[in-house]
Parts: sequence; C-alpha cells; structure tokens
Amino acid sequence: MTATLLKSAEKTRAEEEAALADVPEQAEPLFKTTERRGFKMGAVISYQSALKADYTNMIKSDFNSITASNEFKAYSLLNQNESMRAENGMPVMNYSQADTIAKFAQQNGIGIRGHVLVWDAYMPVWFFKEGYRNDSAFVDSATMKKRLEYYINEVVSHFETEFPGVVYCWDVVNEAVADGINECNEYDERRIRTLRSGTPNYFYEVIGPDYVELSFKYAREATARVNPNIKLFYNDYNTFYSPKREAIGKLIESINKEEKLCDGVGMQGYVGGYGQQDGCMNPNDIKLFADAIRFYGEKGLEVHVTELALRNYDQSQAKKHEDFYEDFFRMLADSNATNNYLTSVSIWGLTDNPTLPRSDYSYKMNGPYCGIYNYNLKKKAEFYRIIKAMQ
Ligand code: GLA
Repeated sequence: MTATLLKSAEKTRAEEEAALADVPEQAEPLFKTTERRGFKMGAVISYQSALKADYTNMIKSDFNSITASNEFKAYSLLNQNESMRAENGMPVMNYSQADTIAKFAQQNGIGIRGHVLVWDAYMPVWFFKEGYRNDSAFVDSATMKKRLEYYINEVVSHFETEFPGVVYCWDVVNEAVADGINECNEYDERRIRTLRSGTPNYFYEVIGPDYVELSFKYAREATARVNPNIKLFYNDYNTFYSPKREAIGKLIESINKEEKLCDGVGMQGYVGGYGQQDGCMNPNDIKLFADAIRFYGEKGLEVHVTELALRNYDQSQAKKHEDFYEDFFRMLADSNATNNYLTSVSIWGLTDNPTLPRSDYSYKMNGPYCGIYNYNLKKKAEFYRIIKAMQ
C-alpha cells in the first residue's frame, strides 16, 4: 500500500471506531440474525480466496451460503482439448477449482448458490462449433441443444453426487434480458438479448430464441433426477428498474407456462453509479428494490439478492454509506414482514479494495469502499448496521 492509502486506512479506523459506538454488539453469527428475518447470509468466494485462512475464517464465522465468483461458470469448467477428444461428441469439464470451493462448503456446513449454468458473456465460441474447434463452422440447433442438455445434466449431477445437498440452488441462466431494445428483437416482450456490447449471444444464435426456456427444462430434468429440492433461479442485474423488471416477469411467465420450471429471481444488487459516485446511495433505489421484491414475490417467485454491492467510490462518504447499508437491510427485513419472499442475500462487494486502479473492472463494478469489511478483513460499521437493521 502507498503511504497515502495507509494514511487513509488509519483515518478509516478512527472513523469506524466512532461509528461503532452506537451500534449493537454481535451476539451470534450474522447468518443466525438474518435467518430470523427469513434469509440466508451469503458471500462471494474465489478459488484463490478459498485457499486463504483469514478469508475462510471470515466466511465460516458469519455466512451460511457462498457463491463462487467464476469457478462454477461454463467458461471455467469447459475443457476444450478434452472435449475435442471425447468419443461421444459431448463436452468435457474440469472441476478441480470448483471442487475446492465445494469441499470447503461441505466441510463447514455452508450451502452453495450454484452460479451459473448458462451465461452468454465470456462464453468460448468453440463450444458452439463443430468438433469444438475454433476455426470450424457452427453446429446446427439440434446438436447444440444436445450439448446444452448434456452439459447442464453433467454439471448438476457432478456437484450433487460429489457433495450431496451442498448446492441448494442454481442460477440456470444469467443476464438474458437486454437493457434496451437495441440489444434484442424489438417485438420480443421477454427482451431476450441477441447481442451484448456488440458480441452475438451464441446461445440465441445457434439454439434459437427459446434457449432460456430450454435451459430451465434441462435443469429441471437434471435436478429431478438427483435432488428435487434444488431450486432453480433466473439471475440478472438492474432487476429493479422498469422496463427490464417487466421483461423479466414476462420471461419467467414464458419459462413457467406449462409447468413451474423457475422457482425464483436472483436480483444481483449492484446499486449506485457504475464507476462513479454520481448515482450512489440514492434512497429511491431502496424503494425500487422493495417494489421489485414484491413484484416478483406476488408472481409466486422466491427472491434471492445474489451479488449485492452497495457502491461507494468516495471514502469521505463513509458515514453516508453506513446509513445507506442499514436502510437497505431494514428494507430487506421489512420485505419479509408479511410474506417471506426473500430467502437469501449474498454480498459480492464484501470487502473494501482501495488499492484497485480506477480502470479495474471490480473497481467499477463494486466501488472501492463498498465493503462491510475493510481491506484487511476487519469488520466495518456496515457489518454492525446490518445487525441493527434486523432488530
Ligand atoms: C456479473 C456476473 C457475476 C460476476 C460479475 C462481475 O454480475 O453474474 O458472476 O462475473 O458480473 O463481478
């Protein structure tokens, strides 16, 4: 750390101590406190952080759910060389890093949100091509459906067989709904994305416009075989803004048209301006979030907050961030006052990270002062404000 950063970290400590003066003591693990309001308390974990005792101890003390940041995603699991060699023509996966995370969860009685089976972003294009080669032609829709069905069944079965009961839900599809009509067919009320920042959505292109519904069908068939208690979720960002919220509602209606294949909505929970302080900690976002939980809940869906990052890019706004954290969690607790729609909340922006350069993706996604822990994994006032909000 540079001298300036160290100096500001010291200032944070002094400010934190002052802020902690009027917040409750912690009498029990955080997840016990939130369970009384009906929801699990989750945290993000990566393969690297799963190898670090200070990080895993932090998780073990206060969380009863974890989500792997990237290790359960198709782009991490798929093995191109092995897939090219497979005699049955089906994809081959390498689970070593994901299994390290799953083992940690299993040994400590922590549940896993399986994240994620189908996501168009960062997807290797060879998965959609003949012989899994970079330079060959795209396969036809029927072949791609078989690959997708096989992939989903293999992955769901792998974790359930190796770590029975640990994965309690899967995000089946991530971010399939476009933000605006420039990235989808304008007549599609579900607004399924055909493009992401100019890159084609190959699931849509090769399988067809019903790839989301099909993914849920395959996932339901897979969980029915190994463990029918595993819940299936549709996960996305900006789920609390119209018209995306309504499009997600239409999509889930379409998925559940004949039978209930989708149990719930994962609301990612990046709240505030992207990469900038402007737009952060806006009380209206808390109201919109509450409205959205009710909107999805009234459709008979469970709600998970899956990747919470209450953004803050400005350390001088620490006090405001603490207040916002408490208000946000009070809203979550209040949402469950009459109906228990919300059953799990996972924090992605868990620790401050002021050493990241401004150009870094995580800097922009989470904000460097978003955490409920500081850079050294020490609890910040925000942590205790969650407890306060649950009272
Ligand atoms: C999306 C994904 C997450 C993660 C974040 C970036 O929200 O769902 O898995 O990749 O982007 O940190």
